[in-house]
Amino acid sequence: MLTYDVLIVGSGGAGLYAALESRMEEDVQVAVLTKVYPTRSHTGAAQGGVNAALANVDSTDSWEEHWFDTVKGSDYLADQDSAELLCREAPQVIREMEHWGCPFDRTKEGKIAQRPFGGASKTRACYAADKIGHVMLHTLYEQGLRHGVDYFNEWVTLSLLHNGQRCLGVNALDARTGKLHTIQAKAVILATGGYGRIYWNRTSNAYGNTGDGTAIAYRAGLPLKDMEFVQFHPTGLRRTGILMSEGARGEGAYLLNGWGERFMTRYAPEKMELGPRDLISRAIETEVRQGRGGPEDEVFLDLTHLGAKRIMERLPQIRQLCIDFEGVDPIEEPIPIKPTAHYSMGGIHTDINGLTSIEGIYAAGEAGCVSVHGANRLGGNSLLDILVFGRRAGVHALEYARKTDFLPMPKNVLKMAQSCINGLMEGDSKESLADIRRDMANLMADKAGIYRDETGLTEAVNKLEELKERYKKLRVQDKSKVFNTELVAGLELGNMLDLAEIVVKGALSRQESRGAHYREDFQYRDDDNWLKHTIATKGTDGKPVLSFKPVTITNFQPEARTY
Ligand code: FUM
Repeated sequence: MLTYDVLIVGSGGAGLYAALESRMEEDVQVAVLTKVYPTRSHTGAAQGGVNAALANVDSTDSWEEHWFDTVKGSDYLADQDSAELLCREAPQVIREMEHWGCPFDRTKEGKIAQRPFGGASKTRACYAADKIGHVMLHTLYEQGLRHGVDYFNEWVTLSLLHNGQRCLGVNALDARTGKLHTIQAKAVILATGGYGRIYWNRTSNAYGNTGDGTAIAYRAGLPLKDMEFVQFHPTGLRRTGILMSEGARGEGAYLLNGWGERFMTRYAPEKMELGPRDLISRAIETEVRQGRGGPEDEVFLDLTHLGAKRIMERLPQIRQLCIDFEGVDPIEEPIPIKPTAHYSMGGIHTDINGLTSIEGIYAAGEAGCVSVHGANRLGGNSLLDILVFGRRAGVHALEYARKTDFLPMPKNVLKMAQSCINGLMEGDSKESLADIRRDMANLMADKAGIYRDETGLTEAVNKLEELKERYKKLRVQDKSKVFNTELVAGLELGNMLDLAEIVVKGALSRQESRGAHYREDFQYRDDDNWLKHTIATKGTDGKPVLSFKPVTITNFQPEARTY
């Protein structure tokens, strides 16, 4: 059996940072287990920037203002103690990244450059052209290699093992051979990213963002928090949902409707294109619903006035993606865009060190929910979250691993994992994986997207039950062991269906509108009844049971949110 002091599941920024921090002591053995290759993790798709109040461009910025922007952006659902840590520790983690070699763009004076971003009162997003996630991911991977972290690439985690109080490890499938393994670990950090792929056809997320760690934690009895809050990024490419960075608007791009109007004058007259994402996504949907969209119900992101030089220098990837996927050169014409499912505010409930309700089990990044983003995340705070809380989880897991012993592993722990695989592999079925996945995705986009109401959400709850029944009958057609990608897709679909059910049940229960959760039948925020987190745990009948937890308010009383 493989044995590690600290095992990290997931190789995005949160996982790699956690791995690096937990490997700071030579005698602590650390491994990263990932279903992709680390440099292909979704962090690499982050484009526009990472927030930190460095005050390099606007000398009046401060971490306190960043804190306020974050809490206001969250529609007051963020826990203010966690958000405080996020903003206070931001400059420190950015400097640490710089010392490790992360190539941030520079100001003329040679300081880390910063650009404006949505929902922020100051210019504070540090960037590297439009590839900040890519350079951060590579920096962290290089440092992990240098510090002796082990990597298990193309391993799919199947289940989390614990004894009710303490962590034991995980079961995983080596996709390259089809062999199942138990990996014993004193501490496990789940950092598998978000669940945006439940909106399969309308998302900026990588194909791998199927919420695996979050679903595994839920099935292992850990509570999930605020799962109904899913962010739609305003500017996804029209037909593919690929991200067109907020950095473009930070550089001065306009949003135009089908009539050529800068429609944000109607919705956020002060901040205009740099309003928060929830507000802009709803504004776009409203323009389209009221007949002011383009021919394919899109609106347009206009960069043409920025000029070729600036576009090539600051937004080269955006330009190339537009040319490749839409046949549009943004130097010449506006980019057709639609809002796209982008970020999961919900996740595994943790404290400020990433610790869950089980000793030794941690979660960090988008898989977790330390409640810094509340009901709506600010652009540039996701990369910051993975740095600050990936680091904290790593530091804490290292301390924990040093002071604890391995627990004996019960016999037959692989049995459940084996029967789950057998369930998908043995026999035949008329059900098609692609059909179930498509039906789930269409349902989520139609009934649990930007606009929601009781009728649609009730329909979604019922249809998801039917889809879960169909999933039970699903058998994969490829019976081979080596690189069985159909089997992996089948496992991912099971994870997504579990999480989709929790999203819609949470959304149905929350009778108010807050941040990214907008109910047409309850159009206002209701602090008297709903200033609280939704907690979902797996009930004895296998269905989610909802309960609620107060929001931590330390400094900012909720007030009207205008931009
Ligand atoms: O628009 C963007 O570049 C995305 C940034 C983010 O989600 O933080």
